[in-house]
Amino acid sequence: MHKKIRIGALISGGGTNLQAIIDSCESGKIDGEIVFVGTDNPDASGLERAKNHGINTFTVDYSSIIQSLKKEPEKIAPPKDFDIDDLYAKQSLFSDDADPEKVKFFMVSRAIAEAKLLEEMAPYPFDLLMLAGFMRTLSPYFIDRVNKEADHPRIMNIHPALLPSFPGTDGYSDTFRYGCKVGGCTVHFIDYGEDSGPIIGQKAFQIQPDDTIATIKKKGLELEWELYPECIQLFAQGRLKIVNRSYPTKDGKKIQRRIVDIV
Ligand code: GRF
Repeated sequence: MHKKIRIGALISGGGTNLQAIIDSCESGKIDGEIVFVGTDNPDASGLERAKNHGINTFTVDYSSIIQSLKKEPEKIAPPKDFDIDDLYAKQSLFSDDADPEKVKFFMVSRAIAEAKLLEEMAPYPFDLLMLAGFMRTLSPYFIDRVNKEADHPRIMNIHPALLPSFPGTDGYSDTFRYGCKVGGCTVHFIDYGEDSGPIIGQKAFQIQPDDTIATIKKKGLELEWELYPECIQLFAQGRLKIVNRSYPTKDGKKIQRRIVDIV
């Protein structure tokens, strides 16, 4: 058996993926233990799942932080180590023609909330941070403070679609509304974009003529509960390596991509 990794989790909702990971840690399918569960949502029912297993929990209420900053912009005080130019240079969430005020407010308000998250996480050192239905986009401020080494990303996410198709918050519904015949889920490392980081694993299901959004969400979630533990176990075994791969393009050029090799 491998040394157990320490896993932190962030959730926003019901936490069925969290439950799958807790169960996999307890049954030995994952060589790991969950050391905290944090949320942005004080009403996240998944917190109960953590408490039932004696796992430490905390809440950083993003909505109320963002509301109060909107109401009293003069009170905005970014964290001491906040460098907005660095974040502008790194982020790929907004296009160049996005409203600069909107981008600025996003970066500052996220960094304020994220600094609180980091503070809550600090007592629990971890090897891997897993996002399990965490519905807040993480800014480079947070990502850089967790990923200290470029080639060792350690924030994982599960997404309800076969990326790079259908990034965003509603992947199963988007897949269904497009008329796809196959849907699926993806586990990937987080980077500075929206659901754009290196892919670790994917599972797919058929979409039948009588399927509905509800039935494909059910099919998808059942696959998520298998896929996420498998990917986390690969991480625990040290089998996920980030490599820079060069691919030929149609016009004879080359593109570079950071991908995950499973070794
Ligand atoms: C899942 O569908 C996951 O892919 C997405 O959010 C949902 C979370 O569900 N990111 P749960 O809270 O784990 O039940």
